Amino acid sequence: MTTEGSVLVVDLGAQYAQLIARRAREAHVFSEIVPHHITAAEVAAKKPGAIILSGGPKSVYQEGSPKIDPAIYDLDIPILGICYGAQLMAQDLGGTVTATGRGEYGRTTLELTEPCSLLELWPGSSTVWMSHGDSITAPPKGAVAVASTPEAPVAAFADTERRRYAVQFHPEVVHTERGQELLAHFLHELAGLAPTWTNVSIIEAEVAKIQAQVGDERVLCALSGGVDSAVAAALVYKAVGQQLVCVFVDTGLMRADEGAQIEETFQDQFHVELIHVKAADRFFDALEGVTDPERKRKIIGELFIRIFEETARDIASGETAPRFLVQGTLYPDVIESGSGHAANIKSHHNVGGLPEDLDFDLCEPLRALFKDEVRAVGEELGLPESLVWRQPFPGPGLAVRIVGEVTRERAEILRNADAVVVDEIRKAGLYRDLWQSFAVLPAVRTVGVMGDGRTYAYPIVIRAVTSDDAMTADWARLPYDLVETIANRLINEVDGVNRVALDVTSKPPGTIEWE
Ligand code: XMP
Repeated sequence: MTTEGSVLVVDLGAQYAQLIARRAREAHVFSEIVPHHITAAEVAAKKPGAIILSGGPKSVYQEGSPKIDPAIYDLDIPILGICYGAQLMAQDLGGTVTATGRGEYGRTTLELTEPCSLLELWPGSSTVWMSHGDSITAPPKGAVAVASTPEAPVAAFADTERRRYAVQFHPEVVHTERGQELLAHFLHELAGLAPTWTNVSIIEAEVAKIQAQVGDERVLCALSGGVDSAVAAALVYKAVGQQLVCVFVDTGLMRADEGAQIEETFQDQFHVELIHVKAADRFFDALEGVTDPERKRKIIGELFIRIFEETARDIASGETAPRFLVQGTLYPDVIESGSGHAANIKSHHNVGGLPEDLDFDLCEPLRALFKDEVRAVGEELGLPESLVWRQPFPGPGLAVRIVGEVTRERAEILRNADAVVVDEIRKAGLYRDLWQSFAVLPAVRTVGVMGDGRTYAYPIVIRAVTSDDAMTADWARLPYDLVETIANRLINEVDGVNRVALDVTSKPPGTIEWE
């Protein structure tokens, strides 16, 4: 990846490095996260326009605390140190960091003590967010302390001549009032980086990269119904048009309208060659009598791969066999794989574990992008809003929301119920605020009474959660009026349902899905 005119975010062990990288991009400057053991020569080779040292959980005095190659300071590239990064700069460049025993966590008030170019637009006093144990007590040689807080005598320092700046607080978090402004000011004014990273420029850059990689070869893409594969396909289509062939395997376990929307978007709107494999019967046959959640997942995953493979083989046996396979790998996957080398193909079933004789080169047009950028690019490319903003959906589909046996009838009940839940959540304006909101079908039936008759039918459980990353989740406090509307519609409109319950379990101890 060339990074000329961009900012390198040196990861010093914080969960904040990704957030800093995203904030830089919100300021329209391309950012790349690099590990702290990167050498000065490697940094120089990337020709970045600025460097940000991230925060980190350790103390600079702790054994094994992350360091950077000191020669990086002498590359004459503007540097901003944040939190631990600020303390590391102080320590490396001749200042003092002291374990005062009095840390500062959360909101505090920052007072400017000296005029300086970094904070020139800030008021004399403002709210910032802190998280530190040690404190900088003297700035490095050549730098001036420019701000303080009650527990941080040097809450910011600046060496304007050498373009070295540091802040003890976290400008990347929203609780720091003017944090984003500070980052933008550092990047645009102090480092002189032009704000050229926009949705349009992302698309232009990715399209050029795809064209250079793919040439006149054909490209195969598996569409899952989700946003990543759809945006990846739309980008590849923009780059190489009819050289793209898409496969959509309909398992019979998709949400309402998912297949129709894929066809409408990719066939009617974009005129992509789309192979819609209607494989529901094969999935229901394979799932007959199976109730164990793990076995269900395994059966679905394996069958999906077999069907995708059969289709790929058919295409590959033609005269113009695709050489490339599109993967919707995102930047966080690349960072988490640690190396910046090819991320492992995800093992979930969308495109998993392809056999070796189906020998594709990977085309990964979303590799440099965060999820919010993927959505913005999708909108810019003209994908429908309902697809671009779709909530996550598990690979095995509705099967993990049908407790007990997965039959055609039970899948139909759940699909209809899910459509009602999603429709009402959308109407209430909550769809984008919730991480996921859907219906679950338990394996019990209960007695009810409707009209003059006794009923014996399934309950539907409403599951709605808020979350940032699905690792933890909180059950969503849906308004009771909304719950009532959903419950009435479920019972009136969905055959086979006579009772509604609300899942009030967070994760942990529950998982988001029921299986
Ligand atoms: P749980 O249920 O473990 O789910 O709290 C966490 C997130 O992962 C999604 N999920 C899956 N996604 N293949 C996927 O692509 C799967 O097999 C799978 N299982 C769960 C789930 O929807 C939630 O967002």
